[in-house]
Amino acid sequence: MIICGIETSCDDTSISFVKDGKIILSNITFSQYQSHNLFSGVVPEIASREHLNNIDKTYKIALNEAKIEEKDIDLISVSAFPGLIGSLVVGVNFAKGLAFRLKKPLIGVNHLLAHIYAVNFSKKIDFPILALLISGGHTAILKMDNFLEFEIIGKTYDDSVGEAFDKIAKHFELGYPGGPIIDKLSIYGNPTSYVFPITSHEEKHKLNFSFSGLKTAVIYFREKYISANINNNLNFEFKNYSKDNKPNLDLNKPKELLKTFNKDYFVHQEYLKKKNILKINENLFDILSSFQYTIAKIISFKLNQALSLYSSKYKSIVVAGGASANSQIRKELYNLSKLNNINIIFPELSLCTDNGAMIAGLALEYYKNNILSDLYLSPNARFQPLKRGC
Ligand code: KG4
Ligand code: ZN
Repeated sequence: MIICGIETSCDDTSISFVKDGKIILSNITFSQYQSHNLFSGVVPEIASREHLNNIDKTYKIALNEAKIEEKDIDLISVSAFPGLIGSLVVGVNFAKGLAFRLKKPLIGVNHLLAHIYAVNFSKKIDFPILALLISGGHTAILKMDNFLEFEIIGKTYDDSVGEAFDKIAKHFELGYPGGPIIDKLSIYGNPTSYVFPITSHEEKHKLNFSFSGLKTAVIYFREKYISANINNNLNFEFKNYSKDNKPNLDLNKPKELLKTFNKDYFVHQEYLKKKNILKINENLFDILSSFQYTIAKIISFKLNQALSLYSSKYKSIVVAGGASANSQIRKELYNLSKLNNINIIFPELSLCTDNGAMIAGLALEYYKNNILSDLYLSPNARFQPLKRGC
């Protein structure tokens, strides 16, 4: 069975063709990060317009790459909730048009569960599982018996994990999306240079998350750090380029990135070191690395609490969503799984962030359970309970 998966819930226009829920024939994604980079975050209105511009060509390229014809498509699936409403509207209406024209069934899929499905492309999920979802819009721990029966047992009070990365990157004017940038730059820092607060909550909320305190701590720390330098009349600027003169960040070349990124910063730093004002390890990379390490520790701490309550029932932990690509988070969680003697699975790096393949994959599960949508399918910004004919 060949399923077309359409994903437009945030800032990626992605369309994929997947055979039998396992074989990805094509998975084409137009990322909009360059348009949003200017604003250091997603601008919903721009996102919807970009989806509108890109969706038709994404579909044609995906079809071509899959080496199939439209008559080979058995089902149309689309991310229907949760997400940015204006962005979802574009994908859902495109999907409806396609289903109507090709006379094929339509399925509206829960975008967050689809992230968890993405793991299935590398290793078959063996239910029941504890799932940790860490994306740009959501952070949650779920108990899952299968894709239709699950319970959310922990969620965030404020920022999601991805959002915390994006906001810190914005504060440091590093660009968008912040997660992959901080992940790359953290390599050059010492993760234990600075101690930032690890959130804990009272017993009945102990599986919930909060990242705004950590974010504030990092921001205040940095401000104090700069003002200490300004007080010494050094006219020190943390970075030497202005907003409209951003360096061209090529994230695939960390060495080059490092050169362009902080040439001026290093010059300043050497000067400050000579004047004996800056301690050897006080630098941007250490701050970022310590921030990332603290996020990983918080996640691992919360998941450990969930394991202490439920580990006897669950055979594996599944971690999914954009921030599941993070190297430090992966490292911490692998350690946690070893300590608890429980299996842990992550999606392939290319399937951590939003993609059409995970939508098509989950749609097959819905189809097998006769959960179909119709042309009244309506997107929703919020998490919706699963219902037939949504
Ligand atoms: O799951 P996703 O593609 O979109 C939502 O459904 O929200 O996640 C996007 C988020 C962004 O916040 C981005 O900064 C974060 O995932 N992200 C990462 C990494 N790669 C992407 N966060 C930390 N480390 C990464 N390597
Ligand atoms: Zn997502």
